[in-house]
Amino acid sequence: MSSRRFEGSDFVRACRGQPHGRVPVWFMRQAGRSLPEYRAVRGDGSILDAIADPDRAAEITLQPVRRYGVDAAILFSDIVVPVHAAGFGMDVVPGTGPVVERPFEARRDLDRLRPLDPGTDTPYVIETVRRAVDVLDVPLIGFAGAPFTVASYLVEGGPSRHHERTKALMLGDEALWHDLMDRLADLAIASLLSQVEAGAAAVQLFDSWAGALSPEQYRRGVAPHSARVLEAVGTTGVPRIHFGVGTGELLDQMGGCGAEVVGVDFRVPIDEARRRVGPGRALQGNLDPAVVLAGEAAACEAARAVLAANGGHPGFVFNLGHGVLPSSDPDVLARVVQLVHDEGDVRTE
Ligand code: CP3
Repeated sequence: MSSRRFEGSDFVRACRGQPHGRVPVWFMRQAGRSLPEYRAVRGDGSILDAIADPDRAAEITLQPVRRYGVDAAILFSDIVVPVHAAGFGMDVVPGTGPVVERPFEARRDLDRLRPLDPGTDTPYVIETVRRAVDVLDVPLIGFAGAPFTVASYLVEGGPSRHHERTKALMLGDEALWHDLMDRLADLAIASLLSQVEAGAAAVQLFDSWAGALSPEQYRRGVAPHSARVLEAVGTTGVPRIHFGVGTGELLDQMGGCGAEVVGVDFRVPIDEARRRVGPGRALQGNLDPAVVLAGEAAACEAARAVLAANGGHPGFVFNLGHGVLPSSDPDVLARVVQLVHDEGDVRTE
């Protein structure tokens, strides 16, 4: 199976906490507006159109690997693709993010979230994965949005600061909330399995907005659903990464959801995150993406601090603490990759 082709890569071995050569590095949102070559092929209009075009999507997936020499590619797609393909009625507006015409309000809206058949609903995702994997010499990471983060877009109708409607639904109508989360977990599972089947060598579950929740809210309303997604993908044997922003107080629970790797944002140093997540899990992170805007010297100093906080632990994948910001200078990111490869050490004992 092609997803096994990269079992011996630094990236996959680091995800499993196994000895390997160099500290692997990739960046969330490494494909995107900071790259002139991305802007050249992205085209106008909704990003969903570019995603639905395997020619463009596969090329965009490869661009950051060529430019940065990162140790993994990430599929060019978006967390809202499955709900969009299932017909919920959404778009992604440049500069804003996902927006929904008719937000999720009541039980009747569950009917707008039918199951996903990836072969007929998102054949372009499968085709993009195949084309990229065909030519890549590093592992491809597939991904999905975690149920909570996708639910937030559906319920709020767009990006939200406090996720108040989402929380009101979670806390005010638990039965409907769990039914919604069940549907979204099924969509994520179907999408992730199709990506691994097509050749993705690892997967990342993005719960970007989980940091809006208290530990008790996360425990009751979210963790069981994310755990179900991760468990279902576990049958494929590829490493699973579970990421959120502002999740310092949730890291212990995220460590218990089943993923081999827990993504850490820039607010919690790696050594402290390791204490919170507990043994037997690898970590991914956590250079503040804003430090890249401060220039090469500042970025290098901060990258060295991340490596120092990891202290050579083999279960570590270098990344940013969140996505690349559009105004980032690609040369600074390239320098960070080089620094991690040159200076990152991996303990063997
Ligand atoms: O390089 C990669 O990381 C792969 C591609 C990728 C995209 N979206 C492409 C994209 C990935 C992994 C995502 C995930 C995603 N999408 C998340 C989780 C990660 C995170 O950043 O927390 C979220 C919350 C979304 C929803 C979304 N889509 C947002 C908030 C935006 C930005 C809106 C804007 O214009 O600022 C999008 C659009 C989007 N998805 C872009 C890209 C490269 C922006 C560029 C464009 O429209 O061309």
